[in-house]
Amino acid sequence: MAKLAIKGGTPVRSEPYPVWPVWDNREVEAVQRVVESGKWGMAQGSQVKELQSSFARYQDARFGIAASSGSTALRASLLAAGLEAGAEVIVPAYTFVASATCVLESNGVPVFADVDPETYVLDAASVEKVITERTAAIMPVHLAGIPVDMDALERLAAGRGIVIIEDACQAWGSEYKGKKMGALGLAGAFSFQSSKHITAGEGGIVVSNDEGFAERCASVVNCGRSTGGAWHTHVRLGGNYRLSELQAAVILVQLERYEKMLARRQEAARTLAGRLSAIDGIKVPVLPDYATACSWHFLALRYDPEAFGGLPKADFIKALNAEGIKPAHGGYYTPVYRQQFLLEKNVGPYDEIRRHRFGGKVIDYADFQCPVAERACSSEAVWLLQNLLLAGQEGLEDIVRAVEKIRENNRELSG
Ligand SMILES: Cc1ncc(COP(=O)(O)O)c(C=O)c1O
Repeated sequence: MAKLAIKGGTPVRSEPYPVWPVWDNREVEAVQRVVESGKWGMAQGSQVKELQSSFARYQDARFGIAASSGSTALRASLLAAGLEAGAEVIVPAYTFVASATCVLESNGVPVFADVDPETYVLDAASVEKVITERTAAIMPVHLAGIPVDMDALERLAAGRGIVIIEDACQAWGSEYKGKKMGALGLAGAFSFQSSKHITAGEGGIVVSNDEGFAERCASVVNCGRSTGGAWHTHVRLGGNYRLSELQAAVILVQLERYEKMLARRQEAARTLAGRLSAIDGIKVPVLPDYATACSWHFLALRYDPEAFGGLPKADFIKALNAEGIKPAHGGYYTPVYRQQFLLEKNVGPYDEIRRHRFGGKVIDYADFQCPVAERACSSEAVWLLQNLLLAGQEGLEDIVRAVEKIRENNRELSG
């Protein structure tokens, strides 16, 4: 009789893992208060302003500028940084697509660098290889909350007029050498989208220590208005990228709950790192010494199919899900430079990449090769999502048991 659940055996776990988002009456009351106040927009109410200062404080930054999403927060950051048409922005190949589309939408040119083989975050050595005289910005993505080596990037940027804008969309509470992420470079953007650790369904924020930048960014997210200026006076290109008071009220409650949940995920990541890395064929990211805290938006395992009888990653994940370990999935399935819209330059009016020269010819995204990102996508990375990290000890043990079970019985899945 088959042992693996995918073949009809008994699953390791029948109970579902905790659901996300976590909420209680405090979110309901916060929304109700805003609804009843009749002040639903940031121009009238106090919630967005309060969120901007609370979140900036939490992230060790002076200024917070709320936005409608992480994507618009990133775009507003680039515009406020003064990115010029055709400027190159170096982004990791292994990330969510918005890290690159925000560059295109700012009329810039995304250039891709590879990620570190152990942590999957932007690798400074790879960044150095693609710096040109057109490089205007580097955008480290603190993937899963693991901080990028900011000093190494700073050394590359210094003296070259290159700014660093952090995509900290997954890094609420992560720390680099004891300091929270986001304002280590010029600015950083966070997401409050529905899968994120602090959420109102959608939402985002930019943080910075630079007053001039913060003022420009606040203008960009508010249709290009200037602080104190007339409502129908627009001093720069901007958009309505504002967050609503209802969203801000929810995010403020989520922020109150954050530290406790962060501690739970950190404890879970420690436990899983110890137990899973003892299994042949599974590696767990080890935080670099400079990373004094990690949000653990997910735990990205490095799966070696060879140790599992050649079982492809996709089949391993199906077997894992069948054992009751979900949500777990394969993360990004392609490096961003292999996305169809970039290969075909299907970018609407943001067409700098149709003529931009890079490496002696018009840039062609088919030329990029980032082997670590490619491997992570195709055969290696398996993401255990935050729901799993919020489970108690038994839920964590079930993950370990399921992985061991699949390894021991992988022959049931061959052929
Ligand atoms: C790394 C990264 N960058 C950018 C974003 C974009 O954030 P949003 O979905 O809020 O636009 C996300 C979230 O999906 C993300 O994970």
